Amino acid sequence: MWSRLLPLCTVLLLCYGKRTTATTTVDWWESATLYQIYPRSFMDSNGDGVGDLNGIASRLEYLKELGVTATWLSPIFKSPMADFGYDISNFTEVDPIFGTMADFDALITKAHQLGLKIILDFVPNHSSDECEWFQKSVRREDGYDDFYVWEDGKIDAQTGERMPPSNWVSVFSGSMWTWNEQRQQYFLHQFLPKQPDLNFRNQMVREHMRGVLKFWSDRGVDGFRIDAVPHIGEKRYANGTYPDEPSSGWSDDPSSYNYHEHIYTKDQPLTLEVVYEWRQFFDEYKRQNGVDTIALLAEAYSSVEVLSDYINNGTHSGTQIPMNFNLMSLIGYSTAKNVEDLVKGWMDTIWPRHQTANWVLGNHDSARLANRVGREKVDLMTMLVHALPGTSVTYYGEEIGMSNVATEYTPVSCDDRDPERTPMQWDTTAHAGFTTGSTTWLPVSVDYEQLNVATERSVARSHLNIFKGMTKLKQTLAFKAFKDENGFSFGAVLPQVFQVVRTAAKQEEYRILINMGNKIEYLYGLANQTMVYVLLSQFSPHSYGEKVDLSKRLYMMPYEAVVLRWSTDGD
Ligand code: NOJ
Repeated sequence: MWSRLLPLCTVLLLCYGKRTTATTTVDWWESATLYQIYPRSFMDSNGDGVGDLNGIASRLEYLKELGVTATWLSPIFKSPMADFGYDISNFTEVDPIFGTMADFDALITKAHQLGLKIILDFVPNHSSDECEWFQKSVRREDGYDDFYVWEDGKIDAQTGERMPPSNWVSVFSGSMWTWNEQRQQYFLHQFLPKQPDLNFRNQMVREHMRGVLKFWSDRGVDGFRIDAVPHIGEKRYANGTYPDEPSSGWSDDPSSYNYHEHIYTKDQPLTLEVVYEWRQFFDEYKRQNGVDTIALLAEAYSSVEVLSDYINNGTHSGTQIPMNFNLMSLIGYSTAKNVEDLVKGWMDTIWPRHQTANWVLGNHDSARLANRVGREKVDLMTMLVHALPGTSVTYYGEEIGMSNVATEYTPVSCDDRDPERTPMQWDTTAHAGFTTGSTTWLPVSVDYEQLNVATERSVARSHLNIFKGMTKLKQTLAFKAFKDENGFSFGAVLPQVFQVVRTAAKQEEYRILINMGNKIEYLYGLANQTMVYVLLSQFSPHSYGEKVDLSKRLYMMPYEAVVLRWSTDGD
């Protein structure tokens, strides 16, 4: 009986005690600082100009310095690299360009010793066409006949020509169906023809994929970022046909992905079913092995309503972190009101149902933050994503303000996403300290002598130091205790000034104020409080420790962002 009453007593004490203490009941991933590494570009240990696992291992202390909780590695698996690792030929082997399995084990051991978690990319939608499974499927080998999505196609009644089974267009343009001479059938590929889609209607495929997850979990992996989630399943009628998609009106080019409304090739019920299965698998894995939660991140460019279902549809649980790309639509002209709308877009739908949030600012598929919003707003965005409750996701190099690099003239360049994938800028030495070799797989940015880790460490208000300042704040109770009723609030206090307030049990409060505009802004009577400046962006004329009485007037310079603090201790 006492054990039953104890929790109630605790709650009463917490609520009515003179100095209440906020609790942090969040799991590790819920308020984590996540950092994406593009392994080819982070650090090269063997001088071949391509980043590798030992390179990453040698820089783990840097992640610690950044205040990172977990790092997500883009694919490190055996691959012919048609899509730089997102075309996997062996899901349980490390590609030699990145090192060996022993290197991976050493990396994870060191990461765990440092208190860092490792998240791997999991690419279930497709394999490489050079994967053994696909080769076997082409040959219709026993058990593999149905491993991929194969179809005969249609015959044009007038010309007698063979046509793909449907009008579907792949994400990378052109038909989603490619004819295979050997098997005399079309196969489906939501991405490149070298990335055939696995058939998730086949239980053996599901089993193989669970095997992959188990393999890496057994090696100590702490989470998975699931690639291309919405694309996992497609609509197929009982008679084996595939319905055409209607045109969207957004494009005149029938070979463009935007030409159709993707009502049969995105976010299908089959996909949700599979995501729920993975979650069930990990809940069971956790129970059996007594490990920390193995978190699932989902790459899903879908509506918030659909993302909500990927988390939990009321009956089943799925991914913990459906990646929120909303803030990536911000550009140079975006106002505080725009920021508010984007934040509300998530908070109005997802928060009430799941009390979870995450904020992604960039990745290997999008232009660098500095190119999207302008260099003067990089720090503002860094402050924003770390100020908001939940998980922040940073793409390597954004913390030092790296920008896109013109890559047209490089020997290896073959992807329009190369500009945002160039080598990490570590210091002012040759190749920005990325390699000891004579070349790099993509060119190093010309701005590396100024924008690099070593230099920025010693510049008080560098991008790097502001980033570190924010991750440090993310460790405070006020930032962590975000499930409390009074834990946070946000909104545009002026059309160009966005505010986030984080509070810990009435003991400590932080106000993050961000002036998105290029004009001086004045705030009158913001609160009945005197607060202290504890973090300042590059354009701030204020100084650390300076006090400001918010019942009076506060002014903000163009593109200025500040963090103010108040506490019952008066410090
Ligand atoms: C999403 C990944 O982020 C992207 O880089 C890749 O090309 C596609 N999925 C296909 O795997």
